[in-house]
Amino acid sequence: MARFLTRLIDAQAFWARPFGDFNHRWLSALFRRMWTIKDLLHGRWLGHPLHAASTDLPIGVLTLVVVFDVLGQPGAADVALIAGIVLMLLSALSGAADYSDTDGTARIRATVHATLMVVALVLYAVSLAMRLGSSEVRTLPIVLSVVGYLLVTAGAFVGGDVAYVLGNMVNRHAFRGTGTKWVALDLGGAADIPEGQLFKATAGANSLVLVRTGETILALHETCAHAGGPLAEGKLLDGVVECPWHGSRFRLADGHAMRGPTVYDQPRYEVRRAESGAGWEARRTQG
Ligand code: FES
Repeated sequence: MARFLTRLIDAQAFWARPFGDFNHRWLSALFRRMWTIKDLLHGRWLGHPLHAASTDLPIGVLTLVVVFDVLGQPGAADVALIAGIVLMLLSALSGAADYSDTDGTARIRATVHATLMVVALVLYAVSLAMRLGSSEVRTLPIVLSVVGYLLVTAGAFVGGDVAYVLGNMVNRHAFRGTGTKWVALDLGGAADIPEGQLFKATAGANSLVLVRTGETILALHETCAHAGGPLAEGKLLDGVVECPWHGSRFRLADGHAMRGPTVYDQPRYEVRRAESGAGWEARRTQG
């Protein structure tokens, strides 16, 4: 079943890829001028993707529309429909912010997801207009809202696929253990850690990005928590590293996420002179 649905979704690439690229261009241009609002919509303040949380509300309320229609409660169904449309619109804002930083296959599937939701929203709007226009004619508006509900369900499935199958907006360090052992740093052939610049080193299986000031070394994991961008290739900005892929910023001192699209902090490491006296060693800080 899952394989069939995945093939069906991916078969939409012929229109979803160019349409997604087009939407991505204008959304990126729009949000580039409003980082604060974009951050708010990603959910950095919550430490959790806002879209994933906010989509539960319209789906729940739109389920009530079906229930009230079946029970023959037109007033309650209409109120639920108004609330469902408003909540869909609000949820679409956070979805648009995430979409503007979504690439590759995830963007194609997110385009299918968004398109299904927009078509459902249009059907719901027409249904609402008909319901408010005449209390006599109920059959067609009810049919439209049921079709809308089926589209929302299909859209939610595709949206879940984007998060759970493709890992979009999932913390790239979700499965990384904290560890307590000091591990020797491999400087990749460099004689020493250079001063005042982003420098990549490895500690066992982990890549780190380091910034040295004298004997003080600030270190974070090198893989961006948002979507795996290489932080060592980003920008160093006054104690903050900016990811080269979508512009997330992390404070080097503690890994705190200063700007989205990441909603997750970056793992931080301690670095010291090796006890043997040769080279450096690192370990992940706790918490
Ligand atoms: S990978 Fe997206 S901001 Fe780093």
